[in-house]
Amino acid sequence: MSKERTRILIVDDEEIVRESLSAWLEKDGYTLATAPDGETALARIRKERWSLLLVDLKMPGIDGLQVLEESRKLQPDAVAVIMTAYATVDTAVAAMKIGAYDYLVKPFDPEELSLMIQKIVTQQALVRENVLLRKVLKRDYHFRDLISKSPVMQAVFDLARTAARSNSTILVLGESGTGKELLARAVHAESPRSQGPFVAVSCAALTETLLESELFGHEKGAFTGAAVRRKGKFEMADGGTLFLDEIGDISAKLQLDLLRVLEDRHFFRVGGSESIHVDVRIIAATNRDLTKAVADGSFREDLFYRLNVIPIHLPPLRDRLEDLPLLVEHFLEQLGAEMNRRLDDVATDAMGLLMAQTWPGNVRELRNVLERAMVVASGRVIQLSDLGLRRPPCADVPSGGVLGSLDDVERHHIGRVLQESDGNISQAARTLGIDRATLYNKLRKYQLRKDGEPETEHPESE
Ligand SMILES: Nc1ncnc2c1ncn2[C@@H]1O[C@H](COP(=O)(O)OP(=O)(O)OP(=O)(O)O)[C@@H](O)[C@H]1O
Ligand SMILES: [Mg+2]
Repeated sequence: MSKERTRILIVDDEEIVRESLSAWLEKDGYTLATAPDGETALARIRKERWSLLLVDLKMPGIDGLQVLEESRKLQPDAVAVIMTAYATVDTAVAAMKIGAYDYLVKPFDPEELSLMIQKIVTQQALVRENVLLRKVLKRDYHFRDLISKSPVMQAVFDLARTAARSNSTILVLGESGTGKELLARAVHAESPRSQGPFVAVSCAALTETLLESELFGHEKGAFTGAAVRRKGKFEMADGGTLFLDEIGDISAKLQLDLLRVLEDRHFFRVGGSESIHVDVRIIAATNRDLTKAVADGSFREDLFYRLNVIPIHLPPLRDRLEDLPLLVEHFLEQLGAEMNRRLDDVATDAMGLLMAQTWPGNVRELRNVLERAMVVASGRVIQLSDLGLRRPPCADVPSGGVLGSLDDVERHHIGRVLQESDGNISQAARTLGIDRATLYNKLRKYQLRKDGEPETEHPESE
């Protein structure tokens, strides 16, 4: 900030002090104003912006401490320096407690004041620059709540921003934890429908009949237990966005039902005969490979094309490791606020270990690892041991020689994915990109158990 733009208000009941100080500081090139008492000072603080307040402690009427206290509320950014002829520890402590930057004991050397102000101005400029810089960085790396600086994700953000403006159906593809739901919410928030509802349905969580009535609603008496008429998610999302999560998991019958709604935006409640029209934008998501599902006949091709109008693919975290430090910083901040704990950083070796992971659970897994680490960390910095992570698979490959064979690497990778999946074979197979039968074959080949641990020679009874 230029010197003229540094505005200093001198508050002192003694005219000689006001005049000599303003003459001195004017010579330094600052913009100056004076106030002979607390009332006048506060009136000017209320009306104008100040960089620095030089306030005499003892004044008749409203004294320096009160001016200071009020100014903290009115202009927290303005730096306050207290001047006092009665330097007692008590008053100094009181002033610092209220938030004074420093205090000067009268009579003081104006040279000392000049130096102090120079220091303050430089610091303020740095703080402002930092705030600005962070804002610029964050804006560039953000799409609503999604953060990324990797070029692939930047392209995803661009596509999503453009798609948000249209009404077209979007299909979000990506592994578990890559941010599919976050992206759907961001698109909704950036769309002309943002004032309307965002309704999410997890298609995998319910049985066929339940999902049907969840989506389309039902009439009273449509089935046992249907005591009242209920609106479905399609109706609830009217005027907004309907997020159909895990669309790859729906049954053949529901695929057909959905196809019909997507074709003409009409449907019937379960047990109903009234045709209902809704205005919804559909965003579907899946971590399944839908083209494969279409090829093997488990997913309708016509529905696939209806959904796949604008496909958006979210790459796995391991393919964009340059995002990891940024995400770590983001989660330290976000989780810190949630947990009311402040952690500043991750130790270098711990960051190295994070970078060496394969992250089958992607960003969600990273968030979980950091959350756990933040609970156990004792200091301000997350240490290697706080992470509770094993060494990366490559490093703990048992090596007869220096490096393991490809089989060794595969065995260890499978073991680790199984551990991450808590022994859920389907999930592990999906992460590995192989089918369950192949995974079972590999378990046999490598003598691994479902939980990823090696089979013992005398297995405990299960
Ligand atoms: N790019 C990102 N920036 C910030 N947070 C992210 C990002 N991607 C994912 N997250 C966080 O990771 C977690 C998982 O995200 P989300 O639920 O959107 O994933 P998903 O792809 O829908 O996963 P699943 O397929 O398992 O449902 C959330 O806590 C989300 O806040
Ligand atoms: Mg999800």
